[in-house]
Amino acid sequence: MSNFWKDLKQPFFVLAPMEAVTDVVFRHVVKKAGAPDIWFSEFTNATGWVHAGQKAIGGRLIKTDDEKPIVAQIWGGEPGDMEQLAIHCRELGFHGVDINMGCPAKSAIKSGGAALIRHPELAAASISAAKTAGLPVSVKTRLGYTHVDEWQDWLKHLLQQDIVNLTIHLRTKKEMSKVPAHHELIPQIIALREEIAPQTLLTFNGDIRDRAHGMELIDKYPGINGLMIGRGIFHNPFAFKDGPASSEITPLIELLSYHLDLFDQWQPQLGRPYETLKRFFKIYIRDFDGAKELRDQLIHTANTDEARVAISHLTQ
Ligand SMILES: Cc1cc2nc3c(=O)[nH]c(=O)nc-3n(C[C@H](O)[C@H](O)[C@H](O)COP(=O)(O)O)c2cc1C
Repeated sequence: MSNFWKDLKQPFFVLAPMEAVTDVVFRHVVKKAGAPDIWFSEFTNATGWVHAGQKAIGGRLIKTDDEKPIVAQIWGGEPGDMEQLAIHCRELGFHGVDINMGCPAKSAIKSGGAALIRHPELAAASISAAKTAGLPVSVKTRLGYTHVDEWQDWLKHLLQQDIVNLTIHLRTKKEMSKVPAHHELIPQIIALREEIAPQTLLTFNGDIRDRAHGMELIDKYPGINGLMIGRGIFHNPFAFKDGPASSEITPLIELLSYHLDLFDQWQPQLGRPYETLKRFFKIYIRDFDGAKELRDQLIHTANTDEARVAISHLTQ
């Protein structure tokens, strides 16, 4: 089994999987702005894939050859289905499979996501089933379901499963994203890893704004292998670049134009309605006089051509 995780230069930065956000289009926007070291797909349900095939997963697993390394994130509660989807991911050319064990959404916790925190044996069975596909298997989870101190037993259990990387969103399922991430637990979690599974990499996630903020955490807490950034990308699409954040308008508008072009290019395969693009406008149109008015105008556009007209005075 080739395991790209072993060859990574550390510390590495990862773009967090975000459903309906980090598809092939937005990942290429981030790539142009400043690429992370590892890409993740949006999460894809294994049972949906097994029963309804491509129809169930839409464009979630579309990727291009220049996205390297890229990990397919899968979720579910049926180990046999996880195995089948992991095999499909290998056939598609993904370099790793990550199992989501942290999603708090009601639709996910019926059978997978954060529900696996309460079903550790099922979590272990899912990991070993996914491994049979031959790709390196990692896990992304939270500290626990209800109480923060659940992390000791839960993370120990996961570390005993011989996974290549464990990403920890430093909150419980109950905390959702409502409290600050528990960065203060990083040293204790690293100590647990040293004791149980020194070969497993640790990636921390939660409230990390950008690379510079991540480097501060790395200096403060020795032993971090990687950091994952999610919503930080909404505030600064250049989050993975070195150096201070820029508030210049032109690079942001150029990025929006690129996003519109990529959306058109991939639309036939992704089949995502134009409405889904609107959530991204606030990333690019902000912090200048008239930004709010322009955002309002963009929200009322019906297609990418109308959006291009709306921003044309900023692109000349
Ligand atoms: C819109 C959105 C969609 C998300 N979808 C996923 C997903 O598909 N898989 C996953 O593991 N986490 C998902 N998450 C959680 C993020 O990966 C990440 O763990 C969380 O946002 C905390 O990191 P942050 O503080 O850097 O944003 C999602 C988060 C957001 C905001």
